[in-house]
Amino acid sequence: MYSITNIKNTDIDEVLSLDKECFLDNWSRKELEGIVSRENKTDIVLIYRSDKLSTEYNLPSSLIGYGIVRILSKEGINEITEDKKDPNSEAEILRIQIRKELRNKGLGKKLFSEMMNICNRRFIPKIYLEVRTSNAPAIKIYEQNGFVKTGTRKNYYQNPQEDATLMTKTNL
Ligand SMILES: CC(C)(COP(=O)(O)OP(=O)(O)OC[C@H]1O[C@@H](n2cnc3c(N)ncnc32)[C@H](O)[C@@H]1OP(=O)(O)O)[C@@H](O)C(=O)NCCC(=O)NCCS
Repeated sequence: MYSITNIKNTDIDEVLSLDKECFLDNWSRKELEGIVSRENKTDIVLIYRSDKLSTEYNLPSSLIGYGIVRILSKEGINEITEDKKDPNSEAEILRIQIRKELRNKGLGKKLFSEMMNICNRRFIPKIYLEVRTSNAPAIKIYEQNGFVKTGTRKNYYQNPQEDATLMTKTNL
């Protein structure tokens, strides 16, 4: 029905194209290649695909969304056992996007819970993110997953200019 997997080289073109549809500060091919090759030692990209939805909605490909998480830990991005946990480690949610045609169907929630699993399997005590203050669906998902508002950055985003809401989740 669907799959959520780590990015491979064959996913890169589709992710770049979907990223451009939605964001201004786009990821580059080089950055994504660095993640696939593990030259980048901090970032994980999850690829969400569904052949069924792609057929049903006549989409250009089976890619329905993607998410990017940054892990900063002395253990790197590898999964670890609890005895190896780094109490000073942290994670940051860098991206989550669901294809426009498929929003508001619960898919963002599903993808985000997999992003949380990435953090849980690495015993990350603090997770940070920032989001446009008007982004109600994203903020809803974050709150449902235990994130709380910790601050605001005035006029942080451009085109259109808008404040960023800073949110944190503490796993103690
Ligand atoms: C943010 C995003 C990933 C959410 O994905 P989604 O699949 O549309 O979200 P879901 O369908 O899982 O909905 C999540 C919750 O938000 C609610 N919601 C969805 N659209 C909404 C809207 N326009 N206004 C208010 N709430 C909304 C849903 O009802 C659901 O809440 P519920 O559990 O109480 O029903 C998607 O909107 C998106 O790709 N946006 C563009 C990229 C972006 O802004 N990313 C976040 C910053 S990186």
